[in-house]
Amino acid sequence: MTALPNLFSPIKVGRATIRNRIMSTGHDTVLPHAGKVSDELIAYHEARARGGVGLIVIQVSAVHETARYSSHMLMATTDDAIPGYRRLTEAIHRHGATAFGQLFHPGREIMDSSDGTIQPSFSASSFPADRFHTQPAPMARRMIREVVTGYAAGAQRMKTAGFDGVEIVASHGYLPAQFLNKRTNARTDEYGGPFENRLRFLREVVTAIRGAVGRDFVVGLRISGEEMGHDGLELVESLEAIVALEADGQLDYYNVIAGSSATLAGAIHIVPPMIVEATGYVAPFAAAVKAKVKRPVFVGGRINQPQVAERIVASGQADVCGMTRAMIADPEMPNKAREGRLDDIRACIACNQACIGHFHLGVPISCIQRPETGRELSYGTRTKAASPRRILIAGGGPAGMKAAAVAAERGHDVTLYERSGQLGGQVLLAQLLPGRTEFGGLVTNLVREVERMGVRVVRNTEVTPPLIERDKPDAVILATGAHPRIPPLEGAEDGHVVNAWQVLRGEANVGKSVVIADWRSDWIGMGLAEKLARDGCRVRLAINGYMAGELIHRYVRDQWAGTLHKLGVETIPYARVFGVDATNVYLQHTTAGDPIIIENVDTLVLAQGHEREATLADALEDWPGELHLIGDCLNARTAEEAVLEGLKVGTRV
Ligand SMILES: Cc1cc2nc3c(=O)[nH]c(=O)nc-3n(C[C@H](O)[C@H](O)[C@H](O)COP(=O)(O)OP(=O)(O)OC[C@H]3O[C@@H](n4cnc5c(N)ncnc54)[C@H](O)[C@@H]3O)c2cc1C
Ligand SMILES: Cc1cc2nc3c(=O)[nH]c(=O)nc-3n(C[C@H](O)[C@H](O)[C@H](O)COP(=O)(O)O)c2cc1C
Ligand code: SF4
Repeated sequence: MTALPNLFSPIKVGRATIRNRIMSTGHDTVLPHAGKVSDELIAYHEARARGGVGLIVIQVSAVHETARYSSHMLMATTDDAIPGYRRLTEAIHRHGATAFGQLFHPGREIMDSSDGTIQPSFSASSFPADRFHTQPAPMARRMIREVVTGYAAGAQRMKTAGFDGVEIVASHGYLPAQFLNKRTNARTDEYGGPFENRLRFLREVVTAIRGAVGRDFVVGLRISGEEMGHDGLELVESLEAIVALEADGQLDYYNVIAGSSATLAGAIHIVPPMIVEATGYVAPFAAAVKAKVKRPVFVGGRINQPQVAERIVASGQADVCGMTRAMIADPEMPNKAREGRLDDIRACIACNQACIGHFHLGVPISCIQRPETGRELSYGTRTKAASPRRILIAGGGPAGMKAAAVAAERGHDVTLYERSGQLGGQVLLAQLLPGRTEFGGLVTNLVREVERMGVRVVRNTEVTPPLIERDKPDAVILATGAHPRIPPLEGAEDGHVVNAWQVLRGEANVGKSVVIADWRSDWIGMGLAEKLARDGCRVRLAINGYMAGELIHRYVRDQWAGTLHKLGVETIPYARVFGVDATNVYLQHTTAGDPIIIENVDTLVLAQGHEREATLADALEDWPGELHLIGDCLNARTAEEAVLEGLKVGTRV
């Protein structure tokens, strides 16, 4: 008997019965090949179906040639999509989950193209979009008819391929929302003006789809309760549309979300980062919809624990909960929740790095905590080691912990040594940055894996060559991490210079006026700027790059940029630090070469990246045994590479 009775009760949606209330919402994976379902995409979703999810909504499929918003999306525009879709639905059904497809036109929200040219964008009217800086052409009525037909044809193909239903993407400021919104629709024909006219496009889409698929097939709608940015749809407007469509009686469910693609502020809510609390913050919008309709209401957005989903369903705010990143991080989450193994769930920490971060880089989906995600065909199953070996691992950061857990799972006898008293490495510092406490979940989750797999952990012990001689392991894995990089600075002896780690550990008295010299342009420069500004300092953030946070995911950066603006942090881009004295910091413009002098400075804080901790690696340079270097001690980068390299070596030794 599960402790989450509401979450694990089935629900009827149209003619489909979904086995529980957990849904993987539509999400791009960059796993399709040439617009078609690939073996990698099938393996990805099959892993989640096997993990016990109730409903999987497949990523957006374009309904028209002008709907290619990225160079790596699925296309539902021709019949040759059907065989791939069919293999995908069969794989999902094989494990008892339900499968819906998403029908999509982005309108003006065109992100990139496959050949570097700017493709034409179309919308209800010609209002430009702020985020991708597109200036769309108004759709001619002929084109509207063609696109509406495209939705119906796409739905028909999905039905033929064995899907249980389709979802129209009217959320996030995409094409149907652009027609609906009076601020983006200035048409004077029957598709613009009063509400009934602005709803006409969406209504025609619903009617055309229903006409194509009949009544025995689920048709739902994804819509943003609030688009959350300027000129976005507000709740009363979304509700008005939902109420009208409910009265038409053609839809089977409403899937409520927040955010919009059109603005930087709205886009943060498409995949909300960890600064947005994991309490199901969209649920009140869903509850407002539920109060107006009879059909089931779905919700999503930062629901990362089954207990939160249970509460949302039990309280009647929504009927089904989207837990998308929760299952990118742990596809087995529903099975574990059903079996009461809540402590074994690897909770998503909303870092946005390898899921939506990879999407924006145009590379296949993964998870920094679970690099097997998106790599199911290579790393989806663990093979037992042919013969158990004694493995010694030096360093209990993310790299060492992942290597230890995987090697032990494969049957090896693993000892993990950590120099300090606590496992976690640099993540213990990372979680001290403002708004980043949840990043520490990476340690909680890895420590749990290490414990479950029976790794022997020895803390407060530095691995040295004599210790290795004493233990005589069959293989050694070095995961000794990194330390702050301190570049040579003219006048360093005259100025007050500290590094980021000292500030985070509370070891530095920085005074009232600081310059942060940010070389990496990652989380550390922005985080320190926020921390020191909140502590009452005047903060000038000098970045050796285009902008603060250049190397981190855009939603994290954009949100942080707003916070720094509010706190009055001054940013100086294109600035390389080269000198300091008692009161000044000397920078050089990175392209003009001119000096930039910052006066009245108490402390220069260096955030200059990291250097590998190579003492042990150097000492073992001529050691004849089997030796592997992983993570930052191989080359200082991020937790993503550390965990991935831990997985790789753990499966190889
Ligand atoms: C403030 C801060 C914020 C960051 N934010 C992010 C972020 O948001 N996202 C991200 O992906 N990355 C972030 N990083 C980087 C990330 O934390 C590191 O890349 C990652 O921790 C590297 O993992 P690792 O296991 O290779 O090394 P480390 O985390 O450095 O761990 C190495 C461990 O080895 C131990 N050790 C060293 N020598 C020995 C020895 N001889 N014997 C035994 N033990 C030894 C150390 O004590 C340490 O615990 C951040 C780093 C910092 C400092
Ligand atoms: C990698 C990625 C791609 C996404 N692509 C889509 C998409 O194709 N269609 C869509 O409606 N939403 C998309 N989203 C948004 C998700 O459906 C979901 O609303 C969002 O991840 C918030 O839910 P979560 O906190 O449970 O992850 C995407 C999200 C991610 C992480
Ligand atoms: S990469 Fe980060 S945000 Fe994405 S699923 Fe993994 S833990 Fe969650």
